[in-house]
Amino acid sequence: MELKIIETDKKKQKPSGALGFGKYFTDHMFVMEYDDGKWHDARIQPYAPFTLQPCCSVFHYGQGVFEGTKAYKNKKGEVRLFRPKDNLLRLNDSSDRVCIPPIDVDFVLDALKKLVMLDSDWIPTDEGTSLYIRPSVIATENALGVHAAKSYIFFIILSPSGSYYAHGLEPVRLCVEEKYVRAAKGGTGHHKVIGNYAASLKAGEQAALKGYDQVMWLDGKEHKYVEEVGSMNIFFVFDGVVKTPALLGSILPGITRRSVIELLKSEGVTVEECEIPIADVIDGAVSGRLEEVFGTGTAAVISPVGDFGYRGKDYAVGGGKMGKITKHVYETLTGIQTGKIADPFGWVIKL
Ligand code: COI
Repeated sequence: MELKIIETDKKKQKPSGALGFGKYFTDHMFVMEYDDGKWHDARIQPYAPFTLQPCCSVFHYGQGVFEGTKAYKNKKGEVRLFRPKDNLLRLNDSSDRVCIPPIDVDFVLDALKKLVMLDSDWIPTDEGTSLYIRPSVIATENALGVHAAKSYIFFIILSPSGSYYAHGLEPVRLCVEEKYVRAAKGGTGHHKVIGNYAASLKAGEQAALKGYDQVMWLDGKEHKYVEEVGSMNIFFVFDGVVKTPALLGSILPGITRRSVIELLKSEGVTVEECEIPIADVIDGAVSGRLEEVFGTGTAAVISPVGDFGYRGKDYAVGGGKMGKITKHVYETLTGIQTGKIADPFGWVIKL
């Protein structure tokens, strides 16, 4: 397929001041459509609204998937992508789960690189900032029957962003959720399906009313094992051993999660992917055996957890401060992403 590039003649004003997360969008976007069994009309074009009919299938049945990855620009002006191909491969896995046709990963990766370079003057360079990249697919068939749509739009938009949490790298407060369920084995929790996030909002709002930043989800069957957090995977350090919930079919296989495991293992640190009972987490917090807790995610990066609430009681972790391993992982990963530290893993693509 040919990639067309239509440049805007009306560049937008860039934001000044704090960026926040996902509030501003660059001058261009990538778009292609799917009809009659194939993707077509791939183009980089000015960022613009879509016109969709009220009967468009994504509005009714939520057939859609998305990804999140980032571009970084360092002080030398180098533009760097972090494992973008892994995100596009995961997008195809998510698509398969909800009957969306796959994209050609190499073609889209090439288009993504061109899009990022076209809008590279939007990539912020301050510490903790990056260009958040959001590839998405939505079903666009104009029909109300419940079936996999016959037409789709794939698009990539770019958003210069700062920290995901308003309070930056300050430890976050999590609320352990026992009433609502995020995902069950066999469902869509293992994939980045748009409806997963709508289903998580109620618990998130209730946690926020009680002063927490995000929800810590337990397994859907017994409410016994920790699964993940609102927008992050979760890691625990018990007596120097790093543990994270195993991917047993209802947890998102995070690319930052995978990178942290690979990084720590390469340094000789034991990392266990296993079932983690919430009872062990509570015991660990009370006895002091639980030394650190941190979340991982593209948007959230590495987020220290200062405390969590469970059944009306708050439990502090590591004196409410960022722990040693958390700090090391944060500095190493962001160092590799921005080029301050060499990348021995081949994760970064320099543009
Ligand atoms: C990401 O980390 O990229 C995510 O997609 C999480 C979130 C903002 C939904």
